[in-house]
Amino acid sequence: MDGIQLLKSQRALVTGASSGIGKAIALGLAKAGAKVIVNYRAGGEKAALVVDEIYDVGGEALAIQADVSSEHEVQEMFRQAVEAWGSIDILVNNAGVQVDAPFHEMTLEQWNTALAVDLTGHFLCSREAVKEFKRRGIVPELSRALGKIIAISSVHDTIPWAGHANYTAAKGGVKMLMKSIAQELAPEGIRVNAVSPGAIKTDINKSVWGNPEGMEGLLKLIPAGRIGEVEDIAKAVVWLASDEADYMTGETLYLDGGMMLYPSFRTGG
Ligand code: BGC
Repeated sequence: MDGIQLLKSQRALVTGASSGIGKAIALGLAKAGAKVIVNYRAGGEKAALVVDEIYDVGGEALAIQADVSSEHEVQEMFRQAVEAWGSIDILVNNAGVQVDAPFHEMTLEQWNTALAVDLTGHFLCSREAVKEFKRRGIVPELSRALGKIIAISSVHDTIPWAGHANYTAAKGGVKMLMKSIAQELAPEGIRVNAVSPGAIKTDINKSVWGNPEGMEGLLKLIPAGRIGEVEDIAKAVVWLASDEADYMTGETLYLDGGMMLYPSFRTGG
């Protein structure tokens, strides 16, 4: 356990937490003192291992299965979470998929799948979280905020990306969903922010960083000269979820090694 527990006794729910960025966020929140619901859609064994890892570092966790694009399953997940721990203080909307295709070949199913998980999932989970925050009321010993929502978005909420029109459309939507609900809920003490990762070493982009040419091409897009690690994202999420970030709402932190800095202009233009 870390010395200072920024999130002591708070209750967090992280979607898509059985692997990748979501797993690191779940562990990071636990090390900061939060109890963590490890949500997963499929692969219960991996989620169970994350729960074990959290107990190993002295934390508390519970795995709950739910497809974030299903209204009924999301509602049932929140019901179980509240039944287990009394309430939820922090929601991290992390679950996401890429369903890539050249635009003219993209099927409606590919479009709908990306939008359902990457955008509608944020809507459904955020709505249940906000209902729960309002039902519970403020608990000053835990946090100055009534509740915190953190959207895991992408640099592609801003950078266009050929061959990924469904994904970028969803991420652009996440940005305005985040800002609109941040504006709507700020007076009630609910903070809503986003973290937008660049290229982070996970399974979602392994086909790129997993081979030398792919990695070389990728590094040309990253001025900092390295691919990101999942912990780079987890640390920022812990901070955003804590009262250290109490004056921040409606904002996006781009954690991308400078990918948003138009690196080709260092020598071009
Ligand atoms: C995508 C990754 C990609 C990164 C930077 C992320 O949102 O999921 O596949 O490497 O953006 O382009």
